[in-house]
Parts: sequence; structure tokens; C-alpha cells
Amino acid sequence: MSLSRRGFLGVLGGVTLGAASFGSLVLPGASGQTAELLRSRARLPEPFTVPLPIPPVASPVRTGPDGDHYVITQREAEVEILPGLRTRILGYDGMFPGPTLVSRSGRRTVVTHRNELPVPTAVHLHGGHTPAESDGYPTDLVVPPGWQDHSGHAAHGTVSIGRRDYVYPCRQRAATLWYHDHRMDFTGPQVYRGLAGFHLIRDDEDDALPLPKEERDIPLMIADRAFEEDGAFRYPALDPSTRVLPGVEDDFMEGVLGDVILVNGAPWPVLEVEAARYRLRLLNGSNARRYRLALPGIQFVQTGSDGGLLAEPVTHDALTIAPGERFDVVVDFADQRPGAELTMLNQLGSGTTAQVMRFRVTRRVRDDSHVPTRLSKIPRLDPAAAARTREWRFTRGDIGDHHGWLINDTAFDPSRIDADVSLGDVEIWRVMSDLHHPVHIHLDPFQVLTRGGRPPAPTDTGWKDTVDVRPNEYVDLAVRFTDYTGLFLLHCHNLEHEDMAMMSTFRTS
Ligand code: C2O
Ligand code: CU
Ligand code: CU
Repeated sequence: MSLSRRGFLGVLGGVTLGAASFGSLVLPGASGQTAELLRSRARLPEPFTVPLPIPPVASPVRTGPDGDHYVITQREAEVEILPGLRTRILGYDGMFPGPTLVSRSGRRTVVTHRNELPVPTAVHLHGGHTPAESDGYPTDLVVPPGWQDHSGHAAHGTVSIGRRDYVYPCRQRAATLWYHDHRMDFTGPQVYRGLAGFHLIRDDEDDALPLPKEERDIPLMIADRAFEEDGAFRYPALDPSTRVLPGVEDDFMEGVLGDVILVNGAPWPVLEVEAARYRLRLLNGSNARRYRLALPGIQFVQTGSDGGLLAEPVTHDALTIAPGERFDVVVDFADQRPGAELTMLNQLGSGTTAQVMRFRVTRRVRDDSHVPTRLSKIPRLDPAAAARTREWRFTRGDIGDHHGWLINDTAFDPSRIDADVSLGDVEIWRVMSDLHHPVHIHLDPFQVLTRGGRPPAPTDTGWKDTVDVRPNEYVDLAVRFTDYTGLFLLHCHNLEHEDMAMMSTFRTS
């Protein structure tokens, strides 16, 4: 791919470690977003009238000495998201969100994905410590039988026809993971249309803690969408069939924001809760929207991050969450009287996007749960022991004659390897950003060392796999890759940026 270095990119080409000059060149996106709002044409429901759905937990088709086996069929389905209207989705087992997978740490999990959709897919387990061949590299496609490859992408990967087994050793600690589509150039529209679900890892350490459990342990996938008048998802794809032509209309190249907030696929839902503690597994499954979540009168006691338990709880009045990030929090409704209603707000939103969901307290109960002051031990990756430092600059730029998003001035190319990393080495990665870029790294989690040379934000605590890098900011993180050799990705989790080439390949050996 040839890259024309015109506009500010030519200037940025010379920027190295000193991030200071970065600032004057670009204007930070307003209201905490690097993205554009798409409005619904459908009649929208009154908020807090639809009950919160909880995605069903998948049952294995077989379990044995070689692990637990699941089969998921990717297919289209018509579902009711807005009351009274039908929405055609691309769904894992025809559902949005897909079924929740639950794995035991250390127990091999094999998921056979059957693709009955009209388009290719690739499944990535986000947060998974996964061998390369099962990591959902964007050109490792599962294509429908008879698929014609117009892009030439298939030549860069392994193509499976109709089905593929994804093998997850799950040698990792308990954490809230999620699986979603990762097809080259089309991840944005395909996730938007429904290809996302939870995958939880459980282990003895997490189970032994007195945190809220079972019906008081609730996954919440927060995602914004816009709808056509008839209830169809509204998305500004250049090619609505997502068969041939990638990309979105120019106005939306910064990212697509919807005006409807869905939680577990329902618009501004309501959940009945008892006056007790609840563990909420918050996931921002949006294409591009950042949220600042708040529950007035109640604090979020964070117990876990992307990569599982924190060393000790961190209390937040409000929690900023970027696409791809997860926060496990405990909220306590014990002081609320029956009938009380508490609304989860989005302080970065306005109008319809300023509210997320509501909790309605039903009755007083006995509650034996609590949040201990010590949760886990987190070994620290020592930056002084780092084998090397790498720099990754996330900026807007031009790809040929159109706009796109670049890392270190280059567009993603699946035939190019951008870094060679030795397994077991600690490295420092400096991630630099012109606008909002939620930066995600595959294979192993990392620890945030500094933000703009200052201490990390309270939301950076613990093991992370996605970090919310803000305009004109650089973040230093320590990372160590282990166990699996091959090709892995680092990319922006604003899915429109990802599809417009903001992705890099590193090779572990
Ligand atoms: Cu959640 Cu490479 O993505
Ligand atoms: Cu990932
Ligand atoms: Cu980005």
C-alpha cells in the first residue's frame, strides 16, 4: 500500500519521544469523543421500560479429558430490540449479545464456530491468552461455502470453509473476557450488527473471595446503536452488504456513535435488584463511544480490570470506560429502601445518551457478601529490567488518496511484521496519540507505568489489555509476552479506526 505523506502527517513523521509538539497540530475531539453521531429514524422507547436481558450461558456439547467443546452457529436472525420493531442481526447462535461462555482457568475450551452468514468472519477472544492460530487474526477467515475473495486478503491467512475450531487453553487467571468478530476491514459493521458476546474465566482464587455471586454477578455489555425507521440497524457503511467495499462515509471516519444506549442488547433497560451488593462486569462493547459512568449516591468499588482481580479495591465516583475495556465493580444497594430507583448515567453523553440503565430496588435481604481489603497479588513487571523500549504513534493520516488511521505513519498490511518480540522479555511500549485512541494489545496483558509522564489514572490499575489514550497523550506501559509464538496484533479499538488500517502485527518467538 503506498502512503502519501501529505498534510500534518508529513510534520508528524519527524516526531519522536518528546510528545510536546504533538499538541499544537491537532484539535482534540469535543465532548470526550473521537467520533460522529448518527441519529435514529425509528421511534425510540421510553427509557427504563425494557427489562435487562442476561445472555444465556452456553452448555458444552461434550466434555472430556481433552476439554470442554462448544458449537456456536453464526447466523442472521430477526430480534426485537426496540419494542414493536424487528432488527436483523448477525448473531452468535442468532443472539445479540451471543451466549456467554464460561471456562475454568487451565481447562482447555474448544469452540467450533460455524459460519452460516453471507460474509466471512474471524473470531477473536479479547483478553484471551491464546495461541496465534486461534487468535482470530483478521485474515484467518471462516468463509461461507462458495465465497469469492474480492480482496486478496485470504491469501495472507488460513481460510476455513464453513467452520473452524478455536482452541483456548485458558491458562490464565479469572477475568471478564469477550469474543467478537475481527474480520479484516469489516470488524466495525459486523460487531455493530451483533457479533459480540461474553467469555468469563473462573478460578479458585476469585471463587474463594466473598464477592457477590450468581444472580448478583451480572455482565453488562454497553453499546450504542442507531436505528432506521423500520428497526434495522443504521450504519454508514459504503457497502451495506459488507461483501466487497470496506469503509464508512467520510463524515464518520472518526468513528460511529449511535443515539440509543443498549445494555446486553436492550435499550436503556431496567434491572430489579435486592437491597444488597452486586458485582457488575462492565464491558464497553461500543464501536467508538467512550462513557463516564456514574450511579449518583453509590460508589463503584472496582475489584477487577481487563485482566482480572486487582491487588486491592479502588473506589470511583465515576468510571471512564473506552471501547474494549472492562471493569469489574461492586455496587451496594443495601442502604436503598424498597421502591428506590437508581439511574446509571453517562456523564460524557447528552440527551438520549446521558442515561444508560436503571436499577429498581425490590426488597431488603440478608447479604453475606463483602469486598475484602486485599483481593490478589499482582507481580509487578519491572521497567528497570526492560529489554527494550518501542514507540507506537497512533495518528490520523492518508492512505493513498483517502483518509485513514495510521500507526507509526503506516497503514495495516497483513503481509508486514512491524515488531519482533522475544517471549519472556519485559518491554516498555510508549503509545502516543493525536486524538482518542483506545489501544488494545493481543496475547498478554500489560501494566500502565505512566500517563504523560505522570502517575497512571485510577482506571489504569491492575492488568490491562486496552488503555484509553487521550488526545495529545502518551502512555508508557510494561508488557511481557509468554508461551505462544506467531503473529499477534496491536490496534486501536475504535472499530472504525481499526477498519481504516490502525493496526499493527508483531511476531513473538
Ligand atoms: Cu477486541 Cu483485536 O480486539
Ligand atoms: Cu484482543
Ligand atoms: Cu483510534
